[in-house]
Parts: sequence; structure tokens; C-alpha cells
Amino acid sequence: MIYLDNAATTMHKPQEVIDAVVQAMSSMGNAGRGANEASLSASRLIYDTRDRLCRLFGGENARQIVFTNNSTESLNIAIKGLLEPGDHVITTMMEHNSVLRPLYEMERRGVRLTIVRADERGTVNLADIEDAIAPDTKMIVCTNGSNLTGNYVHIGRVGEIAHKHGLLFVVDASQTAGVFPIDVQDMHIDVLCFTGHKGLLGPQGTGGMYVREGLSVRPLKSGGSGIMTYSKTHPEQMPTALEAGTLNGHGIAGLNAALKYIEDEGVDSIRAREQKLMKRFYEGVKDIPGVKIYGDFDDMNRCAIVTLNIGDYDSSEVSDELLMEYGISTRPGGHCAPLMHEALGTVEQGAVRFSFSHYNTDEEVDIAIRAIQELAED
Ligand code: ALA
Repeated sequence: MIYLDNAATTMHKPQEVIDAVVQAMSSMGNAGRGANEASLSASRLIYDTRDRLCRLFGGENARQIVFTNNSTESLNIAIKGLLEPGDHVITTMMEHNSVLRPLYEMERRGVRLTIVRADERGTVNLADIEDAIAPDTKMIVCTNGSNLTGNYVHIGRVGEIAHKHGLLFVVDASQTAGVFPIDVQDMHIDVLCFTGHKGLLGPQGTGGMYVREGLSVRPLKSGGSGIMTYSKTHPEQMPTALEAGTLNGHGIAGLNAALKYIEDEGVDSIRAREQKLMKRFYEGVKDIPGVKIYGDFDDMNRCAIVTLNIGDYDSSEVSDELLMEYGISTRPGGHCAPLMHEALGTVEQGAVRFSFSHYNTDEEVDIAIRAIQELAED
């Protein structure tokens, strides 16, 4: 199978990641829950993983890295734990449902929501974000990269706007963590939400968030923490404040190995390899009669995603043909980004998404190009 659905999850993981999970499955105790060696070594490994994530994202302190199950959980904690009825929040049409649905929920609880428009190429004019700021605005929340088109958002520039106006800035880095440089301090990011199973090359069920030092986020959960057993309230110190219950230690062991792999390979090198494949595919399909590509390709420093349709064929039919006739895995239909589909005009048809990993090869890309040529001729 030629796997081109890496924006959903990276399926090919470094062997070290697989080995680390297997090793942890037979040796890992419960971090922070005992003084036995299995528990202590789990604590050390989990701290080391926080530290690596903190360094990757330019954070101040490893304590500010919280583990969650995925970006969705992190975004729910950030949005529900920082906004109050009466606050105004600004987001964009580029967002995934993991941002939109918690925001709609807060809107029903009395938060005022402004959604900045994306154009027919799925891009947002950053000046429109600044224009939407009002005296009651508390937060800007936006993606760093569209999961549907791969369009990149210059979050450093959005961070400058947020900083200038004294607003909280929450970033969804689901498609960029591990692939694009992110520096939370330089970019004025207050909360960075990331998943472990995409560009970070770790196991599913891992993810987390960076929370700026001094920022207090209301937790969604309380419960076991391994400390302050006799207190009726959950501990307030980070990261425990936002982590209740046993962590996914086995998954975090895999994420730790993935971070070491990324440090060795280099984020810039991984991104360059992905983008080379994305460009090769884009150049190969863009002039095929009947093929319509969505997104902004003026700046090729974008996520390694090419999303298209062929004529008015249903995107699911095209994706099925790609799998059955050519063994190519893609994602069709709606991509959990409903307002982006509105902006692109693909609500009915959906769209076929090709998303690349640095593990893909030129040969795989060429097979995918030929498949699109043949399907477009039918
Ligand atoms: N959010 C993931 C995607 O875009 C699952 O496919």
C-alpha cells in the first residue's frame, strides 16, 4: 500500500518508537505513584519527554508541558479553561472541529465568537483578525496549518497582533508540530496544542499542550495525582493541575523515542523532504485537465498536503478507485473542517487529500500522479 494519509496519522513510525513502546509494555511502572524502580524510571522518562517537548517548542520550563490524549483534548482544555461568559474570542474559517466545536459550546454558554473569513483558496487575511478585535476580546485561537489544504498560517504574525492587544493566543499545531519550527516565546503563544501521532511520529493517544508560565487554566478533570492525597481539591501546580489519572506512559515512551529521532534528523530536514514530495506531486497533477487543486501554492513553505477533485466525481469514489486500482491510501469526503469546505466550495463533493511523510518516495509520488492522470481520462 502507498500510504498518503499522513495528515490523519503518520503510519510509518521510526523503528525506535515501536521498540520503545514494546519495551515499556513489559517494564514500565506508574509514574509518580511509587518509590519502586519501575515507577521511578517511568517518572524520569516522562520528565525527559516533557523536557524534549519544551526544548522543541522553545518553552521556559518543562513543567509547562502537559500530557493529554491528543490535540482535541488540549484544545478543549484551553478553550473551556480560559474563556468565561461575556468574553469575546476570534477564530478563523480554517479551523478543524476540534477548535470550532468547543468554541460553539462556549458560545452557547455566553461567549461571543467571531469567525474570520477565508477566501476561495482557503487563506485568511491576518489584517481581518486584527480588525475583529474589540474591547471585550480575550483570545485569538487559530491553526498553524490547515488539515484540508495544507495552507500555512504565519502564527508569529498572529502572535504579534495578540501581544500588541494584550490577548491570549492559543494555537492548534496538529499539522505542524515536529515539522515546522515553533518557538512559543518568540511567537507570543500562550497555549500550544499538539498531538503526538502526526508529525511528532509518536503513538496515537499521545499529545499535549504547552501553557505559558503564570497562566492559570481551569482543568476539565480532577482526580488521582500521586501527590496531596488528603486534599479535597486537585493540586494546582503544573503540570499536575491539568493531568488527572495515570498518564499514557507506554505511549509517552514511544513519543520520547520519536522526539529523539526528530532531534537527530532535524525538523528542517524532515520538512524539506516532505515538501519536496508535495511539490513533485503538485507539479505532476496541476495541469491535468479536469483536476482542481484547492489551497494556496504561491508559497511552497506549506504543509505537505495536496487536496484535489477530478471533475465533478464524488471524492469518495475517487479515493476508493485510488485504493482498489492503485493501492493508494488517501482521505476523501469532509475533513472535519466544515467552514473550510464552505470557503472552497466543496461541501457537497468533499475533496481527496494526499498528505506526505518524509518516509514516502519519489516513486510512490509518481505512481500517484499516473493514477490521477488515468482517472482524469476516464
Ligand atoms: N484531523 C485529522 C485529519 O485531518 C484526523 O485527517
